Amino acid sequence: MSNELISALLTALKVSPENEPLRVQVVRELLKAQRFEEAVEQSAPLKIGANKGMVQLSAAYLSLSAGALDAARALYQDAVKLDHTLADPKLESQLNGQVARVVVTGNQVDEAKEEFENDNRQRITFADIGGMDALKEKIRLSILYPLQKPEIYAAYGKKIGGGLLLYGPPGCGKTHLARATAGELGANFYILSLNEVLSMWLGESEKQLANLFATARNNAPSVIFIDEVDALGGKRSDMQSHSTRAIVSQFLVEMDGMVNKNDKVMILGATNMPWNVDSALRRPGRFDKVLFVPPPDRPAREQVLGIHCKGRKLDGTVRLADIASKTEHFSGADLAHVVELATERALSEALQTGNMRDINNNDFQSALKETRASTMEWLRRAKNYVNFANQDGMYDDLDQYLEKARIR
Ligand SMILES: Nc1ncnc2c1ncn2[C@@H]1O[C@H](COP(=O)(O)OP(=O)(O)OP(=O)(O)O)[C@@H](O)[C@H]1O
Ligand SMILES: [Mg+2]
Repeated sequence: MSNELISALLTALKVSPENEPLRVQVVRELLKAQRFEEAVEQSAPLKIGANKGMVQLSAAYLSLSAGALDAARALYQDAVKLDHTLADPKLESQLNGQVARVVVTGNQVDEAKEEFENDNRQRITFADIGGMDALKEKIRLSILYPLQKPEIYAAYGKKIGGGLLLYGPPGCGKTHLARATAGELGANFYILSLNEVLSMWLGESEKQLANLFATARNNAPSVIFIDEVDALGGKRSDMQSHSTRAIVSQFLVEMDGMVNKNDKVMILGATNMPWNVDSALRRPGRFDKVLFVPPPDRPAREQVLGIHCKGRKLDGTVRLADIASKTEHFSGADLAHVVELATERALSEALQTGNMRDINNNDFQSALKETRASTMEWLRRAKNYVNFANQDGMYDDLDQYLEKARIR
């Protein structure tokens, strides 16, 4: 189509800006002409539900042209959900080339696993996690031993399977703990990236999910880790909820099938919004064990500080025990941040003066002044759920923690 036609259409549109079919036509032509920015601009005023798909479609093209593939995929998917006739095989195949990269099929599982394990450039184990002794023991009992010593469980007639859901404030080590569980197990740890799965085409997510479970089953014993399980919650925007529900059902089918066949596959989940986790996911055989991952207590904080100070030169004035007692309610991530700030202070002085002194207590004290516990907001919010949504005792360990920490 020629640019003249587009000019003519644009002129007509100026005269009757409320003419939706005309506007849709203009946007289509702009897309064909690869004038994506203008397409986005002209589609913005579209009001009718189905027409709104043009807005997303234009944005998808624009994102793709800017190299933002993830965004482009999500936008395209939204567009097609709003209006099925917008399905565009050519665009789809361009985006699809990249979908193959998604975490959950065949060899790609291994790649994702490697990425996950190499995230901190080394495999971590329970030894890299400060404190949490009780939690580590529970994970051993419900995840590691069943897979490592199945004959003992069999001898006692105990079925293996089901899921363990970790929940707690941000930065307190849920993902870290899962990664360490992978390290302890050594192999067969599969990561399900919900955000990736959810951003796939209609119907595709379920297929990928089934694929992942099949792979885990074929390579049993294995663990499937699902971070941010709340993304499966029913409380998302309407646009997403339809496809999310399909995924939840698929997920339930897989999980239930697993328990019945006594497959040696364990499911480990993590979330910092347990109240958004679909309650169907918490029935027996599904995420039936729920564990609170609290902010580290004083001795644990000292250990976490020690772990993060490993390989850094501290002078004799630094007393980690003292820092630990001044950091109530700090998350593991907050503590790691304190160590970073203290290090940066010493480093910047060394850069200025050329004197490479060790990190000292002043560096830490100044770092402490700049850092605040990031868990309080979560804990206060959680208090409401304990008060008003703990009928099934799901939050009992959280409740005890809040009492002890005197959080109201
Ligand atoms: N117990 C711990 N020991 C050592 N480091 C820790 C510990 N807890 C947290 N950290 C540090 O904090 C960082 C963030 O922790 P992590 O990502 O596991 O938190 P999370 O609970 O998954 O948070 P979110 O809910 O935001 O996903 C880790 O990468 C690690 O450096
Ligand atoms: Mg996490």
